[in-house]
Amino acid sequence: MGLLDFLGSGKPKLAIDLGADSIKILQMEGTPGNYKLKNFTIEYLEEGFFSEGMVQDTLKVGEKIKDAMAQTGMKAKAIVTGVSGRSVIIKFIKLQNKPDQELDIDIKNEATTYIPFEISEVVMDYAKLGVDSTDQVDIMITAIKREDIETMNGFYSSINLAPGIVDVAPLAIFNALEANYDLEGDKSYALVNIGSSMTNLIMIDKGVPKFTRDIFNGGLNCTKFIERMRRLEFKDAEKFKKAQRENVGELYSIIGNPLGELVREISGTFEYVQGMNFSPLSRIYLCGGSALIPNLKDYFVNQFGIETELMNPFKKIDVIGSTIDTHYLEAIAPQLATGVGLAIRTITG
Ligand SMILES: Nc1ncnc2c1ncn2[C@@H]1O[C@H](COP(=O)(O)OP(=O)(O)OP(=O)(O)O)[C@@H](O)[C@H]1O
Ligand SMILES: [Mg+2]
Repeated sequence: MGLLDFLGSGKPKLAIDLGADSIKILQMEGTPGNYKLKNFTIEYLEEGFFSEGMVQDTLKVGEKIKDAMAQTGMKAKAIVTGVSGRSVIIKFIKLQNKPDQELDIDIKNEATTYIPFEISEVVMDYAKLGVDSTDQVDIMITAIKREDIETMNGFYSSINLAPGIVDVAPLAIFNALEANYDLEGDKSYALVNIGSSMTNLIMIDKGVPKFTRDIFNGGLNCTKFIERMRRLEFKDAEKFKKAQRENVGELYSIIGNPLGELVREISGTFEYVQGMNFSPLSRIYLCGGSALIPNLKDYFVNQFGIETELMNPFKKIDVIGSTIDTHYLEAIAPQLATGVGLAIRTITG
């Protein structure tokens, strides 16, 4: 399911994951459940080109995408892209199961109560996530503001691309997790994608996402703290943050502050979902570029007392592209989780 499955732009061949720190472009082949990575690239952006889920400098970001495609030989007209942040609304509801056509009417009626905009102002879609033993069906309703879709279409058409599928980023990240890990139905999980300007939190119960939240805090805040506390230029503060080190105490004495805020936001959500009849939380999966902060996994274990794992979005995916540097891919794998989830849609539709 995508938020928008456009007709007419052909089957998407590439996935483009735009982020505040970088653009990731991925090309996948194979069949559902048997995915193969053919090519990928990451292009870093300057601060301010893209933030909180929106392209800010269309010319510069457009050029980066075109250059990256030209350099890697990845060609396409139709692409899959994702949206998250303020332009997206994601709601989870439970309804009595019914034949699809009747359910469709019920969902559309229900949606009006959950979407805080006029229905005419949004493009809405939904996915049936699963049916439980009492014949209740879990539905995820997604809506994006029509004007944001138009802006995005305008941006892609300016570089001769068309979004054939627009997915919601949290669902893409979940799809990447599900494609690689065997989630147990009687357990619940937290999936935390920590990017640069944003963190997507996806709470999974009985094998499906049941709650998502975007927190506007991520790796950029850590870098900004380092910049201030160590009086470093942005680039050097990034280097300081990423450096492998024996003793992480010095790093955490600075980034403990912004990370602590993120932990409080995440804890708030953990408490909130406890009231939703979740099974006890059995594991946290970390992804996004900031999952690579040295020792972040141990920091999470300490803070939450819950088993934590770095998500590898290529755990069950064959890497077949001859130009792919597999060591590099392995080193940055968690950063490509959203991109993998989007690329899966080029195969599953
Ligand atoms: N090895 C590393 N150690 C520490 N931080 C890292 C490392 N590699 C990347 N990061 C941080 O990860 C962040 C980028 O992550 P990611 O690529 O997931 O973000 P994005 O998708 O570009 O941004 P967003 O989703 O917030 O719009 C940056 O803050 C970067 O400094
Ligand atoms: Mg991102």
